[in-house]
Amino acid sequence: MKIVVFNGSPRAEDGNTHRMVREFAAGAEEAGAEVENVFLAHHEIRPCTGCFACWTRTPGTCRLEDDAPELVRKTLDVDLVVYATPLYVDNVSGLTKVFMDRMIPLADPHFEFDASGETVHVVRRQRRPRLGVISNCGFPEQSHFQVLRLLFRRIARNLQTELAVEIYRGGGEALNSRNPLLKPTLAKYNRLLRTAGREVAETGRLSEDTTARLEAPIVPAGLYVKGANRHWDRALNRTESDG
Ligand SMILES: Cc1cc2nc3c(=O)[nH]c(=O)nc-3n(C[C@H](O)[C@H](O)[C@H](O)COP(=O)(O)O)c2cc1C
Repeated sequence: MKIVVFNGSPRAEDGNTHRMVREFAAGAEEAGAEVENVFLAHHEIRPCTGCFACWTRTPGTCRLEDDAPELVRKTLDVDLVVYATPLYVDNVSGLTKVFMDRMIPLADPHFEFDASGETVHVVRRQRRPRLGVISNCGFPEQSHFQVLRLLFRRIARNLQTELAVEIYRGGGEALNSRNPLLKPTLAKYNRLLRTAGREVAETGRLSEDTTARLEAPIVPAGLYVKGANRHWDRALNRTESDG
């Protein structure tokens, strides 16, 4: 099984999103999958200009000369495309959205109706990789992913594929905590992410059971909020004393 992960965190390798992806990918690789990890922050990806040349003058090819066309091509021979993104303003990060827009050359401009009678673009290619999402956010509750859950369901519909992996982590800033008290909790969560990776490599998708286990809180909300406020107070004090 081949997987490509597009990581849309500006923090790239240092981000909490990558901490999740690292464990998931390790599990998938243990089970024989080939995983390519692409950090969007390390690439030049300009915003789509809406010229539709990729649908008319040069079907399937964008006229912008940057890194996006090569990255888009990476999705052509994989079984699973995973968007890994921090939650930004209740949505995917800007880097992720700009890249998603650049996927448009893969669609055919013509309209058709899907099985439910709703309009969709004809998908240009026969092979349709499944879709996955790995995300974390700063607030502790899982409810902050409401928009992403709907968004990725809609994207899977648009691409006429299956949303095969959904991993959302509230309280994501705990993932980089060096508090020794959190060590066992984080180790347990990391093991679960590896299990998820293995499961996806073996079966092509994440089971409902594993998805539900990944939703369990890692730090109680009250404790997390106290820790977060202490962190910001310290940061503000440092800024004041710096001048
Ligand atoms: C511009 C910006 C917007 C954010 N918006 C949200 C948000 O709407 N909800 C939330 O819970 N966290 C929000 N966060 C916090 C990030 O999701 C959180 O810090 C996350 O751990 C970052 O992941 P990363 O380290 O992979 O970049 C935001 C952070 C930034 C910088």
